[in-house]
Amino acid sequence: MRVVRTVQELRAACEAARAGGQTVGFVPTMGALHAGHLALVDRARSECGWTVVSIFVNPTQFGPHEDLASYPRPIEDDLRACEDAGVDLVFHPDPAEMYPRPPATSVHVSGLTDRMEGAVRPGHFDGVCLVVTKLLNAVGACRAYFGRKDAQQLAVVARMVADLDMPVEIVPCETVREPDGLALSSRNAYLSPEDRRRAPVLYEALSEVRERIEAGEREAARAIEAGLKVLHGEEVDYLDVVDPDTFEPVELVERAVVVCGAVRLGGTRLIDNVTAIGGKGRR
Ligand code: PAJ
Repeated sequence: MRVVRTVQELRAACEAARAGGQTVGFVPTMGALHAGHLALVDRARSECGWTVVSIFVNPTQFGPHEDLASYPRPIEDDLRACEDAGVDLVFHPDPAEMYPRPPATSVHVSGLTDRMEGAVRPGHFDGVCLVVTKLLNAVGACRAYFGRKDAQQLAVVARMVADLDMPVEIVPCETVREPDGLALSSRNAYLSPEDRRRAPVLYEALSEVRERIEAGEREAARAIEAGLKVLHGEEVDYLDVVDPDTFEPVELVERAVVVCGAVRLGGTRLIDNVTAIGGKGRR
C-alpha cells in the first residue's frame, strides 16, 4: 500500500492506475476509521480493480465552534486498517496541501442543504462539496463510495455530481451499526460510558417512527410524535420525515421516506436515519 501526501502524487498514481486499465474506486473519509468506513472499502474493492482512500479532516466543513481541533486523528491505526483491508493507495494531505490559500470558489447545492444538517451547521455542506469536488478532480475515480449514515450528505453529493456532469458514479452503502443499534461513527469515541449506554435511543426513536409508518400511519407528524416520546428527556436537534430525493419534509406519507434524527448527548452530536416504506395501507 502506498501513502501519498500531495495532490500531484495522488493524481499521478491514479492516472497510472487508469492507464494500466484499472477501475478506480474511491472512499473519501476523515479518518478514525471504523467498520462503517471499512464496509465502504470492501464494497469498493469488490467492484473496482484499484482502491483509493483519502484521510483528511477537512477544516472547511467545520463551524467555528465545532470539533475540528479535537476530531480524532489516529493516523497509525488508520493506515494499518487500510493496509489490512487491501487498500492500494491512501491520500493523507496536510490542510496546507489542500488549501494553499483561502479558496475563492464555493460549491453550493441549494434546496437540499436548507434543512437538518444544513440548518444546524451553516456552511457545512459547502465545505463538504468543495473538498469532495477537489478530491474527485484529483482521483478521477470511476466510482466513489458514500455511506447512507450521512443520508443528506449522500443526496447533496449525488446532486452536485449530476448537476455538474462529474464523470463518477456515486455508490450508496448501507449503515453499519453496533449490536445495540447505534450507528458507527468516529464521534462515538467522545461518548462517556453513561452517554454510550443511552446512545441507542436515537435509533430506537427512528425505528419507532418507521414502524408507525410501515403499520399504515400516513400523517408524518403523528409518527414523529411517537418517536419524540422515545427521545423524551434528550436534547433533540431534529426528528424529521423527508422525501429521499429533495429532503423536503413530508406531511402525508405515501411512498418511501427517510426518517432523520439528530441528538446531543453530553456535548456529542449524533445523527442517524432509516428508510421507511409508506403508503402500504397496512394497519
Ligand atoms: P466521515 O465521517 O469520515 O465518513 C466517511 C464516509 O463513511 C461517509 O461516506 C460516511 O457516510 C461513511 N460512514 C460513516 N459512518 C458509517 C456507518 N456507520 N456505516 C456506513 N457508512 C458510514 O463523511 C465524511 O467523513 C466527510 O464529510 C467527507 C465525505 C470525507 C468529506 O470530508
